[in-house]
Formats: sequence, structure tokens, C-alpha cells
Amino acid sequence: MTYLVTGATGNVGRQVVEQLRRDGHSVRALTRDPASARLPEDVEVVRGDLTRPETLTDALDGVSGVHLIGFSGDDYAPLETAAEVVERVARAGVRRATVLKGVQGEPVEEALQATDLEWTFVQPVEFMSNALDWAGAIRSGGEVREPFPEALSAMVHEGDIGAVIAAALTQDGHHGRTYLLTGPEALTKPDKVRILGEAIGRDLRYVELTEQQARERWAAEGYAPETIDFFVWVHGDPPEEGYTVVPTVEKVLGRPARTFAEWAAEHAADFR
Ligand SMILES: NC(=O)c1ccc[n+]([C@@H]2O[C@H](COP(=O)([O-])OP(=O)(O)OC[C@H]3O[C@@H](n4cnc5c(N)ncnc54)[C@H](OP(=O)(O)O)[C@@H]3O)[C@@H](O)[C@H]2O)c1
Repeated sequence: MTYLVTGATGNVGRQVVEQLRRDGHSVRALTRDPASARLPEDVEVVRGDLTRPETLTDALDGVSGVHLIGFSGDDYAPLETAAEVVERVARAGVRRATVLKGVQGEPVEEALQATDLEWTFVQPVEFMSNALDWAGAIRSGGEVREPFPEALSAMVHEGDIGAVIAAALTQDGHHGRTYLLTGPEALTKPDKVRILGEAIGRDLRYVELTEQQARERWAAEGYAPETIDFFVWVHGDPPEEGYTVVPTVEKVLGRPARTFAEWAAEHAADFR
């Protein structure tokens, strides 16, 4: 059976591809730019753009399950062509679909709910891989400057997100469900800095920024005012579901969700 993975070059999509391969499935990966996809050789890489559904015909040929992203472009705008994409998925005879849910509801979910496809929506909280944003500062000065030291996050390992998606695509019993995914513990930013320091064997410093200093830094980095407001909300006053640990990963995979210490050990080279 062949599975089509959209967003296959992204943080989560790469992990979906990896898990499907590990389980012995044949994987087709969609990208707008095959030349820069950097996917394993046994993955069939196909060119396609979700904002131009007519480009998906070959990608959908002979596929039994498809993993969909609900956004398009680098600003994660909701996929306006979702209804047509889903119509083509259904017409191609695909049986199952998973969706990586964003922070807001997306048209792709609504479109799938109106079909006979067996869908599963996967809604992760913060990805552990966001810590890579600190890699440069840690490598060069050993210091992480961030606001909101008390705020907790139950970050989830992107490999666990990929494994849950692969399970929902390839196994029975997951359809019609929305899986909220968290890691096994809620941590503050100073906790994360300490754990990264342990992983690389160095003392790292957490330096608290005020909200105003953080806003100025994000503006200097080119973020739009509404994105900065989103950052302040999600980091400073996160919704309860962002820091409340739930057992979904373990229930679906039959093993505990991976810890941030495990993630940090796997990625130590990025911070050295
Ligand atoms: N970071 C977090 O903490 C977090 C937490 C919860 C939810 N989320 C959600 O996760 C999503 C981001 O996932 P990610 O980090 O895995 O993505 P990512 O690493 O930013 O990668 C984006 C992917 O989307 C693909 N893509 C974008 N526009 C496309 C289009 N028009 N047609 C086909 N493919 C397109 C890109 O493919 P090509 O460039 O190869 O074409 C790439 O594979 C967002 O919805 C975000 O809200 C993030």
C-alpha cells in the first residue's frame, strides 16, 4: 500500500515519512520543490502544490491513505483550496486521511467530515523542535533570552506526532477521532534550558526578557504585529490544553511519550 504525505519536508511531515518507512510502507512525498526536498532515496518524491489542486492528480494515483496539512505557504494561512483538494482525494479512491491541525480550525477538516473517508485529526501542542530556535544563541554564547519564565508547556516530540499519524493512517480504530497530543511533562523555559545544558554538558544561562523587550526583538526579526500578539498569548498566557499532560501518545502507540531530555540528547549536536 502506498501512502501520500503532504508537508513531507516539514518538521512533522518528515517524521510521518520516517515512521511509515520504518513500518515497511511505501511512501510518496509531496513537495513544491523536489530538488530541495532532501528525502530518503526509497521515498517517491512528487511535485505538487495544494493551492493548485490540479497538480495533485499523479500524486494521488493508487494511494490508500493520505496525510494532509491544513495550511499553505510559509505563513500557515488556512488552505483555501481544501474543498477541492479533498474532493480529489475522495475521487481518487483514497480510504483514509489524517490532518495535522493548526491552532485554529481549518477548512480541510470541514471538507473531510463531509466525505466517507476515514479521517483522524491530530492536534499537537508545542513541538519540542521549537527549541532549535535557541541553537544559534546556545552555540555562540550559552545564553537563552526569552520572556515568561513561569509559563509551562507540555511540548510533544515531533517523532511522536509522526508515529501517531502513521498509526492512524495504517491501523484500524482511529477514524472519526481528534487526538490532542502532548509530551509526558509540562516544563518552563528555564527547565528546558537546564535540560539542554545537561544534554551538551555545559552550564547554560536563562535570561528573562520583559514582554516589551520580547515584542521589540520579534518586530526586529520581521514578525507581523498580529504574529507578535499570538506569540505573547501562546507563550505568556497559554491555553490550559498547552500545559495539561494527556495520555494520548501512550494510548495510541502503547509506549510512553518521549521526554524533552530524550529529545535534547538526540539533538545535542545542534547545540554544541
Ligand atoms: N511549531 C509548533 O509548536 C506547532 C504546534 C502546534 C501546531 N503547529 C502547526 O503545525 C503546522 C506546521 O507544521 P510543520 O512545522 O511540520 O511545518 P513546516 O516545517 O513549516 O513545513 C511546512 C510544510 O508545508 C509544505 N507546504 C506549505 N505550503 C504548501 C503548498 N502550498 N503545497 C504543498 N505543500 C506545502 C511545505 O512543503 P514544501 O516547501 O516542500 O513544498 C513543508 O513541507 C502549522 O499548522 C502550525 O500551526 C505548530
